[in-house]
Amino acid sequence: MEPPARPALDGPALDRASKVAALAALQAKAKACVQCAAIARARTSVVFGMGDPDAALMLVGEAPGRDEDQQGEPFVGAAGQLLTKILVAMGLGRDHVYIANVLKCRPDTPGESFGNRKPTADEMATCIPFLFEQVRIVRPRVIVALGGTALEGLLGQQKLSVTRMRGRWADFAGVPLMPTYHPSYLLRQDTLATKREVWEDMLAVMDKLGMATSAKQRAYFTKA
Ligand code: URA
Repeated sequence: MEPPARPALDGPALDRASKVAALAALQAKAKACVQCAAIARARTSVVFGMGDPDAALMLVGEAPGRDEDQQGEPFVGAAGQLLTKILVAMGLGRDHVYIANVLKCRPDTPGESFGNRKPTADEMATCIPFLFEQVRIVRPRVIVALGGTALEGLLGQQKLSVTRMRGRWADFAGVPLMPTYHPSYLLRQDTLATKREVWEDMLAVMDKLGMATSAKQRAYFTKA
């Protein structure tokens, strides 16, 4: 399946009430979606996304895991708790940003209640119009791609290396896009150097958003 075209973000931005209504209508469509039949049968929730419809910053992950499927919210498990800590270190809360995933349903893992698997290219192409529509409605000023799958989904390309692309601005339909490591990678690769890499990506995001950073913030993860 061909990846769908990126949305055109050239019209006037919606006002807050129109964004809320458009997101609610889109969420209802996502909740009723059964295009990935096996995944739809296995899911507990459709994890649509959450946050401020007027957010300047949108963070995009891969797909809900077990905790997200059970609770119906993105990034609430261990990786999500780390993401929340990163946001707090930036001076932001989950309510100040908009958080969504490439896939709105947890990829099914038959016979494995704990496993997570990467979405297939077809599943991503099927589901990504929901994410593109979320970007069109929210119209963030900056997007962060959390990990390779988010980057591949947003850019419509396969086999991208987040290790090579992180820290450098990419573009999503005219919106600056910062690739960085997925928080679950940070949990596995718990080194000062990796934390600093992600933090430098977030400092660049804060700079792009015109957020002031303190000397203390700029020095995070420079020494153990
Ligand atoms: N990992 C993701 O990519 N998204 C979530 O919502 C949770 C874990």
